[in-house]
Amino acid sequence: MRHAYCGQPTMAKRLLASLLLVALGSGTVVAMATDQGFSRGMVVSSSEEASQVGQDILKNGGNAVDAAVAVGFALAVTYPEAGNLGGGGFAVVRTPKNQIVTLDHRERAPLKARPDMFLAEDGTLDADLSLESHLASGTPGTVDGLLALHERFGRLSRRAVMAPAIALAEEGFKLNPILAGRIQALLPELSVRPASRTKFTHNGNAMAPGHRWRQPDLAKTLRRIADEGRAGFYQGPVAKMLVAEMIRGKGLIEQADLDAYRSIWREPIHGRYRGHDIYSMAPPSSGGILLVQMLNMLSLYPISNWGPGSTAQHHLMIEVARRAYADRAEHLGDADFYPVPVEKLLDKSYARDRIAGFDPMRATPSRSVRHGSFNESPQTTHYSVIDADGMMVALTTTLNSSFGNKWVVAGAGFLLNNEMDDFAASDSEANQYGLLGSVANAIAPGKRMLSSMTPTLVLKSGEPVLITGSPGGSTIITTVLQVILNVLDHGMTGVAAVNAPRLHHQWQPDTVMHEPNALSQTSADTLRSKGHQLTEVEVIGDANSIWIKEGRFYGAKDPREPGAAVGW
Ligand code: DON
Repeated sequence: MRHAYCGQPTMAKRLLASLLLVALGSGTVVAMATDQGFSRGMVVSSSEEASQVGQDILKNGGNAVDAAVAVGFALAVTYPEAGNLGGGGFAVVRTPKNQIVTLDHRERAPLKARPDMFLAEDGTLDADLSLESHLASGTPGTVDGLLALHERFGRLSRRAVMAPAIALAEEGFKLNPILAGRIQALLPELSVRPASRTKFTHNGNAMAPGHRWRQPDLAKTLRRIADEGRAGFYQGPVAKMLVAEMIRGKGLIEQADLDAYRSIWREPIHGRYRGHDIYSMAPPSSGGILLVQMLNMLSLYPISNWGPGSTAQHHLMIEVARRAYADRAEHLGDADFYPVPVEKLLDKSYARDRIAGFDPMRATPSRSVRHGSFNESPQTTHYSVIDADGMMVALTTTLNSSFGNKWVVAGAGFLLNNEMDDFAASDSEANQYGLLGSVANAIAPGKRMLSSMTPTLVLKSGEPVLITGSPGGSTIITTVLQVILNVLDHGMTGVAAVNAPRLHHQWQPDTVMHEPNALSQTSADTLRSKGHQLTEVEVIGDANSIWIKEGRFYGAKDPREPGAAVGW
């Protein structure tokens, strides 16, 4: 089982880099992760260029949503692993008047999708189809989502918030070594996809770090969106190119799918934990429900007394996660298509019953005949923004795997997602994250595939405390959980909470994934003696967060991925 980002430098190197503070012009400080607080704005993302774009928007009079929208479009240019026009995501926003809203801009299954579309004749999953082919793509939601956010809350014009992304695509930007390495590692696959070869190579050759990378087709698409709004993407030349790409690659997305796509404002999932309000994403993400369900179970135990990194906390958290993820597999899917028992899962007395069998001395085996395994190098990205008025944005966006299905839409310059793999192809086949599912998450035309994305806001008495979220597929929810526990139970700073090593359990496969330095020898031995199986993984998550203390904003750029926290 491997779960890592390709081209990932060692943790130690990134932690070293995290100590760097880079001064830019005009009083802006790029802080990879810093103890310095700011009061006028903060943007934390996995791309230095995109964080800078967000900060520039704030300085030019934009609010946190203007900045988040600008960052979203910029990430499609500078962080193609996960930043996207061809994917989808979720946003949680807090307005200065303390209204909390969430926007689901998740991809939808095309109208011609069928429940068994990824099953081979013998009933097994054909992962080439669900991950690598044009059939893997759901109808993209990102463009509609970013535009909807901007229309409802933005202060600046659409052209103003999109101009920086257009400039980055048109004029190019210098490739950093990590991105250059990731593209090079994928060259065999990108080179056999003609439009991907055009976009990601320099005349067929690998681009070196430092190369100024221009993306003219993507720039044209961005310009059309800036000029025409959603029609610039879902209709007209870009839509035609997308549909032509689908016909060429035997995919399913048609003009009718693009016409029908709408992002949806949804009620946030709300929970209370140790005197704080937790707001996160409702279905079709499982993130908010599982996060609150796990916090409800954990709230019954005095974990702050145990201290951070204690074996007692590890064991409890594993057992809590095991139960919550088992519920995910059984009950969660797109609530517009399936009766998800939301109230029940969020109920504190249900949490009490669910954890009742917890044995402090022993692991509860995840009894199931079904097994899954993890695939390599998936990617998603999360960014956090706050402005001087306390407007907060947590936004997680993805193509699913790193670079999606790696197919660029010819002429339009953007990558397609492979989000259809997030559905349960059958009730016995795990997806690339080893996640199992049931009829709740079966494929149906127009349905949204279940997600784990967990963009989350934490407030106390109406005042901002934390903005967080992460990539990492199934590990997203436990990553967010651990950041919250570190801040609320253990009193850590945002930076310490994000940097702290992580572990993860998801019911099936029945093993504890942990980062190399997450468990002391004694802790590992104790967990094994209780019956846990341990699997070391390189990294878990990339939780770009903002911690707010006494009105000051502390950016916590997760050292596990590149990027920057930029404050002023
Ligand atoms: O929506 C989901 O849960 C997944 N498609 C997210 C993918 C992801 O986080 C990959 N990250 N490393």
